[in-house]
Amino acid sequence: KLIIAASCMLALVAGSVQAKDWKEIRLAFDVPYEPFEYKDENGNLTGFEVELAKAMCKEMKADCEFVIQSWDGMIPGLLARKFDAIFSSMSITPERAERVNFSEPYYNTPGGWFARKDFNADVTSKEDMKGKVIGVQRGTTMDTYATNEFGGIATIKRYTTADDMVLDLEGQRLDVVFVDYPVGEQTILTKDAFKEVGKPVKLGEGVGVAMRKRDKDLAAKVNAALKKLKNDGTYDAIMKKYFSY
Ligand code: ARG
Repeated sequence: KLIIAASCMLALVAGSVQAKDWKEIRLAFDVPYEPFEYKDENGNLTGFEVELAKAMCKEMKADCEFVIQSWDGMIPGLLARKFDAIFSSMSITPERAERVNFSEPYYNTPGGWFARKDFNADVTSKEDMKGKVIGVQRGTTMDTYATNEFGGIATIKRYTTADDMVLDLEGQRLDVVFVDYPVGEQTILTKDAFKEVGKPVKLGEGVGVAMRKRDKDLAAKVNAALKKLKNDGTYDAIMKKYFSY
C-alpha cells in the first residue's frame, strides 16, 4: 500500500510539473514568407503573423520566444517540443489535423499561380501543362495540389524556402510558381516581368495556429486571445497594414 501511495504521489508531482501556465510560449515561423513573416531591412522579424503573434502574447500575458524553423520541419519540430505553436500561415487540412490541434482560423488564403509575362499556358489544363516546370514550397498545400493535379505531367520542383522559388522564376528555371496568393502578390507581382495566371485555388479551411493535441489549455488561451483581438479592432488594424484587400 505504501508503494502504491508513493507512486501515486510521484505521478501527481510529475503531473503538476507538466501542467504549464503558458507564461512562456515558443512560436515557430518560417521566413521569408512576405507578408506573413519576413525580416525587414534591419533584420527584424516582421509581418502580419509576427505582429498578430505579438498582440496575442500581450493579450495572454505571456513571454513569447520567436523560433525560426524551416517549413519541412514544422510539425516534427512541434511534436519534438522544440517549440509550442506553429504561427506560419499553416492551412488547416484534415491530414494535418490528425497530428496537430489547430486554433480557430485567423486568415484565409487561396493558392495563386504566377509566371513571367510570356507564359501563355492554361494552368487548369493538363494538356497545356505537359512538360511545364511548376515551383512549390515543399510540403505545402500547393505542393499536394500540384502533385495530385500535374504529377507525371509537369515537372514539379520543390523548394525548402519560398524566396529560392521566386529566384528560380526570375532565372527562368521555372515556368510558373504556385504559392499562397498574398506571397505571390507581394513578392512576384511587384516586379514588372511577372503576371498572375489562371485562377486562385481554395486550399484548406483557413489558416490557424497549430499546437500539440495534448496542450488543450494552450489552444483555449490562443483562441480566447484571437477572439479578443478580432473584437477590439487590433486584428483589423494589423490586417490593413499587410494586405491590400
Ligand atoms: N499555407 C500553405 C500551407 O499550409 C503554405 C504555408 C507556408 N508557410 C510558410 N511560412 N512558409 O501548406
